[in-house]
Amino acid sequence: MVICSCNVITTENVRAALTYATDPNVRQVLNMLNWEPNCAICANNLAAEIRKVMKEFENGDELQGC
Ligand code: FES
Repeated sequence: MVICSCNVITTENVRAALTYATDPNVRQVLNMLNWEPNCAICANNLAAEIRKVMKEFENGDELQGC
């Protein structure tokens, strides 16, 4: 699913970045994906996806979609 249409960033991109993030947060994920701010409509969806993935990590779930 596309999270950021301006930069064509998908949930799969976010999940892949989080597997390598040393300090998983919105700023680091955006830097890792070379995100260029444009309309920022995606900000809440991106933050929600990061929270969702981190909760999966905490629960020990297998990472989906990478
Ligand atoms: S949708 Fe992400 S910057 Fe526009």
